[in-house]
Amino acid sequence: MLAMGISNARIFFLFYSSKMLFWLFLLLEIIAVAKVRSQTSTQGFISIDCGSSTNYTDDTTGIPYVTDYPFTDDGVNSQVAFEYSWSSQLTTLRSFPNATRSCYALKPVIKSSKYLLRGTFKYGNYDGLNRASTVKPLQFDLYFDANFWQTVSITDPSSYFRYEVLAVAMADSVSVCLVNTGSGTPFISVLEFRPLPDVMYPAVSATQFLITNMRLNIGPPLNSASVRYPDDPYDRLWKPWTDSDAFTEITTAESIESSTNDHFQPPSIVMQSAATPSDDSSTVMEFWWDHSFFGLTGDSVYVNFFFTEFTPNTARTLNIYLNAGIWYSNYTPSYLTPDCIYNTGPNVPSEEYHWAINSSGLSNLPPILNAEEVFTAMQFNPLVTNTDDADAINAIKELYRVKRSWIGDPCVPQQYPWDGVNCSYGTNPARIISINLSSSALSGSISSSFAMFAAIKYLDLSYNNLTGSIPDALGALSSLQILNLTGNNLTGTIPSSLLQKQNLVFSHGSNPNLCPGGTSCGGEKKKHSSVAIIAVVCVVSVVLLIVAIFIVWTVIKKRGTSMTTYSEQNVAQPMIENNAQESPLPIENRVFTYKELERVTNYFKKQLGKGGFGPVFHGYLKNDVQIAVKMLSQSSSQGMKEFRAEIQNLTRIHHKNLVSLLGYCMEGDKLALVYEYMPQGTLQDHLTGKFHSEATYSWARRLNIAIGAAQGLEYLHTACNPPLIHRDVKSSNILLSESLVAKVADFGLSKSFNMDNHTHIPNASAVVGTPGYIDPEYSSSNQISEKSDVYSFGVIILELVTGRPPVVRAMNSNAISLVQWVRQRLAKEDIENIIDRNLRMGHDINSIWKAVDLALRCTELDHRQRPTMARVVKELNESLELECAYSEGFTTGGSQTDTISVAFEVEPPSFFAPGAR
Ligand SMILES: *[C@@H]1O[C@H](CO)[C@@H](O)[C@H](O)[C@H]1NC(C)=O
Ligand SMILES: *[C@@H]1O[C@H](CO)[C@@H](O)[C@H](O)[C@H]1NC(C)=O
Ligand SMILES: *[C@@H]1O[C@H](CO)[C@@H](O)[C@H](O)[C@H]1NC(C)=O
Ligand SMILES: *[C@@H]1O[C@H](CO)[C@@H](O)[C@H](O)[C@H]1NC(C)=O
Ligand SMILES: *[C@@H]1O[C@H](CO)[C@@H](O)[C@H](O)[C@H]1NC(C)=O
Ligand SMILES: *[C@@H]1O[C@H](CO)[C@@H](O)[C@H](O)[C@H]1NC(C)=O
Ligand SMILES: *[C@@H]1O[C@H](CO)[C@@H](O)[C@H](O)[C@H]1NC(C)=O
Repeated sequence: MLAMGISNARIFFLFYSSKMLFWLFLLLEIIAVAKVRSQTSTQGFISIDCGSSTNYTDDTTGIPYVTDYPFTDDGVNSQVAFEYSWSSQLTTLRSFPNATRSCYALKPVIKSSKYLLRGTFKYGNYDGLNRASTVKPLQFDLYFDANFWQTVSITDPSSYFRYEVLAVAMADSVSVCLVNTGSGTPFISVLEFRPLPDVMYPAVSATQFLITNMRLNIGPPLNSASVRYPDDPYDRLWKPWTDSDAFTEITTAESIESSTNDHFQPPSIVMQSAATPSDDSSTVMEFWWDHSFFGLTGDSVYVNFFFTEFTPNTARTLNIYLNAGIWYSNYTPSYLTPDCIYNTGPNVPSEEYHWAINSSGLSNLPPILNAEEVFTAMQFNPLVTNTDDADAINAIKELYRVKRSWIGDPCVPQQYPWDGVNCSYGTNPARIISINLSSSALSGSISSSFAMFAAIKYLDLSYNNLTGSIPDALGALSSLQILNLTGNNLTGTIPSSLLQKQNLVFSHGSNPNLCPGGTSCGGEKKKHSSVAIIAVVCVVSVVLLIVAIFIVWTVIKKRGTSMTTYSEQNVAQPMIENNAQESPLPIENRVFTYKELERVTNYFKKQLGKGGFGPVFHGYLKNDVQIAVKMLSQSSSQGMKEFRAEIQNLTRIHHKNLVSLLGYCMEGDKLALVYEYMPQGTLQDHLTGKFHSEATYSWARRLNIAIGAAQGLEYLHTACNPPLIHRDVKSSNILLSESLVAKVADFGLSKSFNMDNHTHIPNASAVVGTPGYIDPEYSSSNQISEKSDVYSFGVIILELVTGRPPVVRAMNSNAISLVQWVRQRLAKEDIENIIDRNLRMGHDINSIWKAVDLALRCTELDHRQRPTMARVVKELNESLELECAYSEGFTTGGSQTDTISVAFEVEPPSFFAPGAR
């Protein structure tokens, strides 16, 4: 019995365990000089001598080899130790010490065409660490495209290890990736890509590829080298295999050419030699291999046997047996024509492949064999990245010259996506769902390619050197949950599409020239798509009046402490969002039991504030969504049914500028409302300096808050029928979300009102509201309309301009309303003298004038002269446009900013000082 199989050095070594033989083998290969013929072409070949610093043409084959710079951007060049550097091509290599996944991208290749891909690895103790030994081999994994190819296992520093695959190109490039699996630093010496005609290797298809286990030229003259290009125009490597003890080598001088339709096209020189049993009386050739030697788990083995008849007018008939079963019978080789007996489907899987070729008995001539190939078939991993996502991230890589090993498919292999990229694999193609390019030295503007990732949830571009404005298109990314643009040098206005986006945690701090801007700089129109639905929802039953009275009564009882504060008392709350406050809130509309409330608030452990109706506590729902639980004062059970109906209606009102009511609790005398939690507290907190945040530090940001709140109120007034009047509009009822979106709170507790039929509140003393904000017309006549909210909102605008509370202590120590105070000051002084000194950034005085003018009209005594909330929203937007135009001007224009901000900095802040001016 004869062992057989020398497809590559590794197999050779395993079978012979004789170093001497191996050395001889290598040396022979090097000294052999092939005849370079000219009729074949290396067109389409990609031949990379990894780690080499020069391009050159290989003497033996005439194939030009190039450096690897154009194909990879990772790793370091190294050379094998001197004692191993006898082969010039295998002297240099590239190693990848720092990355888990390092790739080469081979291109151009023709999509859907077949190819041969071969990697050669020679360790040669290049790192001086003596890493390779049979006891502890140096190992890493090899992938091509999405497919696991083989584990490279280096057991010997002097050998080279070759791996070959036959496949179909899925795209116009093929990637080869080396993955560090923790058993040593990946490296590669030579990488070769050879196109194959489609007719060849029919087992290779769009779903299946072949890993080459052996390719043997049987019976060549002694001391022959491997046959390859140009004898084989496809540069397959045919290893010589001879066993003079068992077989006799026979040769012919005639050439044995294949037709171009041949599936295998063995080179003539390979077919010109064959082996036959040396013992003339023997009529059987036997050989075997243990397939586990190839280290592959795939169990589909394909075998090709090549035959040709050297003697004219002979009829040799052969039977081929595999593991004692007949595999092919009564075959007669053709005269000087290459024949191949091959699998059309895989062989029956087996540990050991034991072959016998004998004469079938129809003739007395012994068997012959000219060449042999053995393959393991594997199925293609069809996983790819969505083309749009892949194109976009490649465009980004090119544009910013991203310094990472971003080569090959971004999402595959699945376990090793690109560094900083995460994908979702629920579908094929896979989608990119997160990109982290923080601190990656990106410069230039934010590419619109970032808006092409339709499934992206997380985008971190913080701490780069990005300039220019933020593309509006980012706001259209429907899945985006976290956007971090902190620490860049962005300018212009934040697109309203982003500011208005629900459930987005958006960080943009430390962009000194960014105008927080908002709703109108893009001139975008608001939509009221769900007006109709809400109108239905808002139809409040008649009994609601009773409820309203109940609430009014509660308010009056608590008038003395009518500040509503949900915010945490922690003054140093940082600006950067780092948890998921704005992750999608469940539209709960849910009834909580008191026990549940105890649990979600951890027994009412953390009080956020005390509102007009009772204390507010912080809590967490199961999914870590933060909530604010507002406890209502006890009351009789009278009207409970109506109260429940009203609350259920309110849970259905959703607008981005209204604090959502998620549910309620009503158990005996225990009443509570459960709201979405607003981590940035109230506008009042920011204006009074309780929170020193970025929210109110520029006029544009303040305008933005005003616009948000105004939109919330406009919605209550117009989307509901009958309109919902808030009745208690004040800066402590304007809450700020994590990304500083203003939302109106407590709206549900106001009374429904029919505009066409002004109703008198029966109890004349039941005026609702907070001193300084109350519409004087309402307090004198008890006539309430939406215009009462407009009045209160005018006061908020004045608070934003002046930074003063709604009731101001004037010089003579009498308290006067802020409205009066502003009117008095403006009658004799310049507007500059009423502007809040805490407005640190420069601002456009025309923009402020416009807002003050609007506030004064909102606070007219006659409600008919006050604008509607829709008008207020429009004019605030115009004011913001002025401000944005101005701040964009100074961002590029230069010195104006400095002058203004310096002027403010030298004066000590005077806000809230009693008797100021
Ligand atoms: C080698 O050839 C490639 C492809 O033609 C080219 O991109 C590269 O710059 C060349 N390298 C050197 C060192 O000349
Ligand atoms: C790999 O990391 C080491 C240590 O962190 C560093 O010195 C070296 O420059 C890195 N090499 C490459 C190619 O990035
Ligand atoms: C050929 O070999 C097979 C298996 O070894 C054996 O069963 C068969 O008898 C042989 N045939 C001849 C004609 O020697
Ligand atoms: C990507 O996924 C890894 C592993 O699941 C995780 O550790 C990492 O934080 C994710 N990165 C991003 C940017 O989401
Ligand atoms: C950022 O870009 C500016 C202008 O192009 C340049 O002057 C500066 O050096 C860059 N900073 C960094 C950290 O790359
Ligand atoms: C930001 O950009 C401006 C010009 O656009 C430049 O003058 C300034 O140096 C940049 N700042 C930083 C920190 O790169
Ligand atoms: C960017 O913001 C997100 C969300 O707030 C946060 O998770 C991430 O750590 C931030 N990135 C950096 C570099 O601070």
